[in-house]
Amino acid sequence: MPPHLHLISLGAPLLLTEAGEQVRFRTRKHFALLIRLAVEAGRKLSRDYLMDLLWPGVATPRARHSLAQALTVLKEKVGREHVLVQRTSVALAPDAVHADVTRLDASDTTIRGQFLEGFDVPGAVQFEQWKDEWRAKLMPRIRDCLVRQMDAGRRIGDFETVEKHAQILLELDPLSEDGVRGVMEARAWVGDRGNALKVYNRFEARLVEELGAKPSADLERIANLLREGRGAVSRPASSGQVSERCERRFEAETLIGREREFASLYDSWLRVRRREPQIVVLLGDPGVGKTTLTNAFVSTCQMEGASIARAQAYEAERELPFGVLAELIKQLTLQRAIGGADPEALSELTRVSPEIFTVFPGVPKPVEWAAEVVPLRLADSFLKAVEAAAEESPLALVVDDIHAADNATVAILHIVARKLPSTRLLLILTARSNELRTTAAASALASDSSIEARQTLELEPLSHEAAERVVEARVAKGEGRIADVPVQRILQAGNGNPLALELLTKEWLAHGSNSLLRDLEALNTQPAANIGIPRAIGAVFERQMRRLDGPTRAALDLAAVLGRRLADLPLYQVVELSPAAAGEALSRLQEAGFLREVQSQLEFRNELIRAHAYYAISGPARRHLHQRVGGVLAERSEEIGPPGKLEIAWHFLRGEDQASAVSTAIEGAEGAISNGGLSEAELILTVLTRIPCTEEQRRRTRLLLARALVGQSKADAAAPIVTLLGQDTTLSPRERAVSAGMQATVEYLLNREFGVAYCNAADSALHAAQQIADPELVGNALFECARSGANAGDEARVAAAREQAQITISQLACEVPPTLTYTKAFCDFFFFELATAASGLERAIEAWTGRRDPVGLALGYTAYGTCKQHLGD
Ligand SMILES: Nc1ncnc2c1ncn2[C@@H]1O[C@H](COP(=O)(O)OP(=O)(O)OP(=O)(O)O)[C@@H](O)[C@H]1O
Ligand SMILES: [Mg+2]
Repeated sequence: MPPHLHLISLGAPLLLTEAGEQVRFRTRKHFALLIRLAVEAGRKLSRDYLMDLLWPGVATPRARHSLAQALTVLKEKVGREHVLVQRTSVALAPDAVHADVTRLDASDTTIRGQFLEGFDVPGAVQFEQWKDEWRAKLMPRIRDCLVRQMDAGRRIGDFETVEKHAQILLELDPLSEDGVRGVMEARAWVGDRGNALKVYNRFEARLVEELGAKPSADLERIANLLREGRGAVSRPASSGQVSERCERRFEAETLIGREREFASLYDSWLRVRRREPQIVVLLGDPGVGKTTLTNAFVSTCQMEGASIARAQAYEAERELPFGVLAELIKQLTLQRAIGGADPEALSELTRVSPEIFTVFPGVPKPVEWAAEVVPLRLADSFLKAVEAAAEESPLALVVDDIHAADNATVAILHIVARKLPSTRLLLILTARSNELRTTAAASALASDSSIEARQTLELEPLSHEAAERVVEARVAKGEGRIADVPVQRILQAGNGNPLALELLTKEWLAHGSNSLLRDLEALNTQPAANIGIPRAIGAVFERQMRRLDGPTRAALDLAAVLGRRLADLPLYQVVELSPAAAGEALSRLQEAGFLREVQSQLEFRNELIRAHAYYAISGPARRHLHQRVGGVLAERSEEIGPPGKLEIAWHFLRGEDQASAVSTAIEGAEGAISNGGLSEAELILTVLTRIPCTEEQRRRTRLLLARALVGQSKADAAAPIVTLLGQDTTLSPRERAVSAGMQATVEYLLNREFGVAYCNAADSALHAAQQIADPELVGNALFECARSGANAGDEARVAAAREQAQITISQLACEVPPTLTYTKAFCDFFFFELATAASGLERAIEAWTGRRDPVGLALGYTAYGTCKQHLGD
């Protein structure tokens, strides 16, 4: 049977039900009795012992009575059948109460503090004694449990957890080195060196004072690292001697998400400590976080005693042989990590790293060898140096962006990787996946399956949740307000790439709604602009592009212009590619890593890549492509349907073919408005108002823009446009009626001048609508009349509107527009004729349902609900 109660005793004690509710005891001794029985459930304890434990110095009959009473309470609390009472002994059934102290080996046991913290039973000397004994007995296990929990946190780079457990450990045992160390690591992880050192100093002082002792060498080393090497002895030693280390701390970087990858690296680290060398090849797209993860991870290794040497490979320095190797050796030398290597090896290494002479003055000059032998000797010597360093402490070597490293270094690393003996070496090689493919030497090393210790870790884009946290962190750093930032849009454009997310967020914080996100929203043909995208990515991209053959490059250019339509092969006629040739070119682009297949759809690997491709096309060429694509799509406008109109228009606009753009844009906007795409219509119509067009086109643009704005309740923006329309004498009577109706709505939305303007505008709208005898427009205008009357509290106005509506309905030969029925119902409701209003609304809803008009339906149902509520239905 599963336990039905839980005794939490590590910290202030609590008894909890399965549902987490606290079971309370009115008498402390009763709870003490339960605790005593529960921590050794199943064990029989004699009545005499329990009486002594909790009721010492009380006459036996009274003590017996108290115990009996306590047992009655216990039975009530834990269930009669679980309290096993015999003549001389008492026990609690095993499994009746689940006590945390019995599960100290489990990793999820929560330790909040000392055993029975703050729980005293005054006068019960024996109980207090028992408690102290248990505390002493439990302490090592509690310590182990906390250390295990800290280790679990370390494994995934979760230093908040490490700190939490370390703090508890320190509370329990202020002299615990594990506790001090955990707090120091956690503080260092977030860059708070000051407090990390404070904790250390306090500990050091206390250790001297209480035990006359010193912190361990490991802890002292961490403290020295945190002091940035200050205090570390940096005396040069002669070769062959194990010299004092002199390292520089590796700053951790903010790491979000990546628990799985961190854990995988950490497992490699644990193997390395057991003398199983590991080579991890960390692959991923540009900006996905390879460097960040590696740096955060090795900073942890360093805290745990590793020596670190890291070299970043630079494309521009690829021409310098052994450049990267020299950097690694230099760092090992300056840290005095390779002093133990044999002098001959060190001598050989001076060829690439002359620092060795300064740090280890006894090292002889290298012997002359034939040029072809030198690399082998260097490899051999480097291996010896690495082994010597790893003998002193585990060693992590990092080559960031191995694809950009010089071939000479890569060859040496390859030899070393193949010959690795059982040494404590962790070699991390990061690379951009698509770059790696194009560099023969590095990719041969990264994929050499004969290297047993090698494993590959692919860094995928961040999860949605982690990406969101990256944006939030960025906003917080920029002192922006998250509520002002269009997080979802950034997440979509950033596609899980932390670099992109950071750039887009930063850009938004700097430029707000004028940032490139707005462009992204307009239409998917214009990718994120290249503003602020680091030169590194730009450089990579250009290099990659230069390698493309003519047709592939042309396809890439067009793909960047096409956006979502990039797999529409016939469109590639624009760049003189047949559909078959275009298909081949796209596959090549996919192989090269520009594109990827998601659910069997081709798309750009990320927006940054597309942005680069797009802006890499020269302005005139880009305009030409847009214009041609617009033209081809326009010929196919039947097939792509009305939603394609806007797309075509944007192509023309971006192609600066304004003449072709205007008419399609107007048609597209009209279509968009009727489909509810008001903001998209607004966007393109706003552009149209700024470019030359005919009077007729200007009028239509204004009318449509007013509709788009009024439809979005953007009264302020709409007001000047409806005013212009009101002054336009060239409007047809229908246009005039439509425009007057909008004027009325704008007045309603602006809600000014006690409603007089609104009433006047509504009257004008009605007049204009009646002129053309359009029942829909009359319905709308009557509604404005009724509403303006209701707003002004003018009953006569509402009554007049109702009468007009009634008359209009009765005179109609055709189907009654729902707005008319609705207006009538609105007035009925105003006069509290609820039943009539309700049945009118039912008819309006029916008509709107027939028309599939969601806006009308929303209006109708809201009113109907209110009506029914008043009716009490
Ligand atoms: N896990 C993460 N949490 C928070 N920020 C991250 C994370 N990963 C990366 N970043 C941020 O994203 C940016 C790019 O990361 P990073 O430089 O590590 O990428 P990379 O893969 O090494 O790119 P490159 O291929 O250009 O070297 C950095 O500014 C970094 O701060
Ligand atoms: Mg990097």
